[in-house]
Amino acid sequence: MSLRTLAKEQPASFAFNAEYLERAKRVIAKYPAGRQASAVIPLLDFAQRQEGWVTQPAIDVIAKMLDMPSIRVLEVATFYTMFELHPVGKYHIQVCTNLPCKLRGSDGVLAACKEKLGIGAGEKTPDGKFSVVEVECAGACVNAPVAQIGDDYYEDLDAASTGKILDALKRGEKPKHGPQNGRVNSGPLGKFTTLNDDPTQKIPMQDLGAAKAAFEKAKAEAAAKAAAPKA
Ligand code: FES
Repeated sequence: MSLRTLAKEQPASFAFNAEYLERAKRVIAKYPAGRQASAVIPLLDFAQRQEGWVTQPAIDVIAKMLDMPSIRVLEVATFYTMFELHPVGKYHIQVCTNLPCKLRGSDGVLAACKEKLGIGAGEKTPDGKFSVVEVECAGACVNAPVAQIGDDYYEDLDAASTGKILDALKRGEKPKHGPQNGRVNSGPLGKFTTLNDDPTQKIPMQDLGAAKAAFEKAKAEAAAKAAAPKA
């Protein structure tokens, strides 16, 4: 188990800005009197979104807002690994290196980070723009290997596609998230199969464009049907 502790250097204070204060109040109001502590995870999330990471002063402010001891808020922040306890880069790259991603090439993803950014896992670029960490299962093994950047998942990666994503981020662009190898979501890369298919037969590559078009057509038909006046 990894040791998760707060950063030694902390800001002097924390206060939610108007937007997050409003959102925090709305979340707290969802719970009955005396149960405000249930809002601790969303409030920690808001603090992290505002500051980039979870600070000690933020923990203290949240504890006060939720009428709970600071140590209990700290327990939650240190338990859930989605809370960053140290400052991270503007682009925080979480590379999954758990077994399925490892077998599918996460080493190449880390190598691309090293090549394009000059940093390895656990490091941050000197300009503070990028940071890289290794994470255990990101929960998208079907699209391994996977990296999470901010709120987005980049899937079916290899060194080349990771390099392209990093180059785009450096240029200030927002690269398209999701599968990077042409798959439609988590669909097969080859043609669609069923359990009745002969697994010993070579599966020809499917026309992904046609599959996508068929999917969009079915979606449009379903939407039209739902919108049609009922007889
Ligand atoms: S092992 Fe990487 S997403 Fe599950």
